[in-house]
Amino acid sequence: MADNQPTVWQCEPHTLAKHKILTNYLEAWVPIMSRHAQKIGSNRSIAFVDAFAGPGIYLDDTPGSPIKSIRTILEHAPLPKPIHLYFIEEDEKRYNVLKAQLDLLKSDIKNSKNIDVHDPECGDCNLILNAWLDEFDEKRKSFGPALVFLDQFGYGAAPMSLIERIMRHGQCEVLTFIEARRLNWTLGDEAKRRTITRAFGDERWRDVIGEDVGKRSTALRHEYRRALQNNGRAKYVWDFAMLDEYQKPICWLFFGTNSDRGLEEMKKAMLKVDERFAFADSDDPDQLTMFNDCGSDWLRARLESHFAGQVVTVGEVRMYVLMQTPLVNYAELLTTLQSENVIIPIGKRIRSFLRELDRKIRFPDVGLPY
Ligand SMILES: C[S@@+](CC[C@H](N)C(=O)[O-])C[C@H]1O[C@@H](n2cnc3c(N)ncnc32)[C@H](O)[C@@H]1O
Repeated sequence: MADNQPTVWQCEPHTLAKHKILTNYLEAWVPIMSRHAQKIGSNRSIAFVDAFAGPGIYLDDTPGSPIKSIRTILEHAPLPKPIHLYFIEEDEKRYNVLKAQLDLLKSDIKNSKNIDVHDPECGDCNLILNAWLDEFDEKRKSFGPALVFLDQFGYGAAPMSLIERIMRHGQCEVLTFIEARRLNWTLGDEAKRRTITRAFGDERWRDVIGEDVGKRSTALRHEYRRALQNNGRAKYVWDFAMLDEYQKPICWLFFGTNSDRGLEEMKKAMLKVDERFAFADSDDPDQLTMFNDCGSDWLRARLESHFAGQVVTVGEVRMYVLMQTPLVNYAELLTTLQSENVIIPIGKRIRSFLRELDRKIRFPDVGLPY
């Protein structure tokens, strides 16, 4: 789909934040998955696909996502198992610039073991990825472990049917970008109906048209999240919004995975970025809560009120923290709460909240003196 940007364009602040999240995640994901591939089979490898690769450079010489990902991965060389990197760009001029940028890294790549950067492809990533996936299906082989980065302009170029095909391969993950503001503006435009439906995989997004204007953005985010789980087959979805100075979302990044470890690492990657980020608060569904407002005291209050009076497993607390809050540090907090006798373990004292996930703990009733 044509856009109105030049071949190479100016890098925007939200792009830098997006790159930081991607490279933070790759830093954690590549060594973990490479070791995992080593454990599960001698001929296994992992893959990173940048399906909307862009030209690889911005007007101010900021490197694009392909270059930043390669550099990040090079820092982890040598890897125990190969990683294959694929780049797809539809626009021929941008593709030529990208090719030249990738050529500049050729000798570094050649000197590193187990990092295989494939020649970029020029074309529509939907066609190219579907053709690859057809080959895997024909050979009855599973694709992945792979991270597929779907960094489109707008919202209509990465259809849910493509995400569903990727996620059918259980060890694949997607990081997909949606321009929230643009989607919101075009919501009532009948000419965009098919494109939006293609993005969501069904027409339930149309219910949002009836919402108050102020609530539409949040409602759309809920809908896309639901669509990623129901239509895109992602077991775990995490999303966050990048906000403008009026706290309104400019864009969203959605992460879909079937791995709770992947979810945990992505959230750590997001927490390391110091930007105007917000997450969707499940306790207050109409509200975006700023990351900066969520420290250990916030999490403590949240756990004490959510689990008040209940006996739950450590694993349940972990999943609550992972799925309903922007934080990951449940083990640290439970350790403190146990040492203060706020939570009581059933049976003997819990030594490791990271490992003893099946152990049960009792939370006090709200308001009772400890
Ligand atoms: C947001 S830019 C990508 C920026 C890049 N990922 C980065 O962070 O540096 C989106 C790119 O996708 C390309 N594109 C648009 N539709 C595409 C499609 N269907 N398949 C592949 N590339 C596409 C555009 O030409 C544009 O260069």
